[in-house]
This record gives sequence, C-alpha cells and structure tokens, in this order.
Amino acid sequence: MGTHSIKLTINGKHYVEEVESRILLSDFIRENCGLTGTHVGCEHGVCGACTVIVNGTAVRSCLMFAVQTDGEEIQTVEGLSQDGELTPLQQNFKECHGLQCGFCTPGILMSAQDYLAKNPEPSTQELKEMLSGHLCRCTGYDGILKAIQKTVDENKQLALTEGS
Ligand code: FES
Ligand code: FES
Repeated sequence: MGTHSIKLTINGKHYVEEVESRILLSDFIRENCGLTGTHVGCEHGVCGACTVIVNGTAVRSCLMFAVQTDGEEIQTVEGLSQDGELTPLQQNFKECHGLQCGFCTPGILMSAQDYLAKNPEPSTQELKEMLSGHLCRCTGYDGILKAIQKTVDENKQLALTEGS
C-alpha cells in the first residue's frame, strides 16, 4: 500500500504527515492528529457526525481521503472556541438544551457554522432542511433548532445595532 506525504493545517496548526492513500480524513483527524471531537458514526455519509470544514465548506470527513486534503485548511469542532470561550452558537446549544449524549453535536455545530456564514438569515424551514442532513437519536431536534434559531436572531440584532 503506497504512502504519501501531506501538509495541511487544522485549527491553525500545521501538520506534515506520511499517510496511506486509503486513510479516511475522519480517521486521520482522530488518530493521527488526536482530535477526537470529530465523531464517526455511519462511515457512509449519512449521519453527519463527522462533519468538518475544509477550505470554508462543511464536508463529511468519512467520505474523503486524507490525501485529498493536501495543502488544505481544515477546521474541526476543537477550533471553534477560542481561549476557552464558547462561540455564541455553542453557548446557545448549552442554553437551549441542544444536546444530550453529544454524539451528533460536533457535526451539527460545524454544519451550522458553515451554513450561517453563507446564509445569515435563514427561515426556520431552511434550518430544518439543513438539519435533515444530520441524525440525532436523543433530542428530537427541538433544542438544536432553538439553539440555531437563537443564534440567527442574535446575529440579526447585532447587525441592527452595528448599523444604527
Ligand atoms: S460518519 Fe460520516 S456521515 Fe456518518
Ligand atoms: S444528542 Fe445524542 S445523538 Fe444527538
């Protein structure tokens, strides 16, 4: 089995690693880089638990090989909070009971972060459609939806305040 040298950045840290061509990005992130916040559920692109952001786009890391990310910039859930401060989205998940076991949470946070960056004022229906790409067996999605909706509302309020 051939190996390849790859260079990439994860959460601002540079990595140079020798990897087998068959290694999935999700396994590389967890096992080579020790970033176990990225969860692996189905390994078939269905559950969304493994979602990370590659060059500004949310992707399912179980559907990519690590070698495909040579030269890329990746953000995982560990890269969201800075200096121990939760992001507003994370804080709202906490306040709105957007998680129970937490298995689905990192993937949903990464998808929602990417989605809101590109669609700052989504409708509730659009948020539901975004969430339809993630499986959560615990919450019934209600708290998750509330947390994301609250973040949208806060962002709108902030934009109004800054514009006034
Ligand atoms: S583990 Fe990647 S989508 Fe389920
Ligand atoms: S909180 Fe348990 S799977 Fe979503």
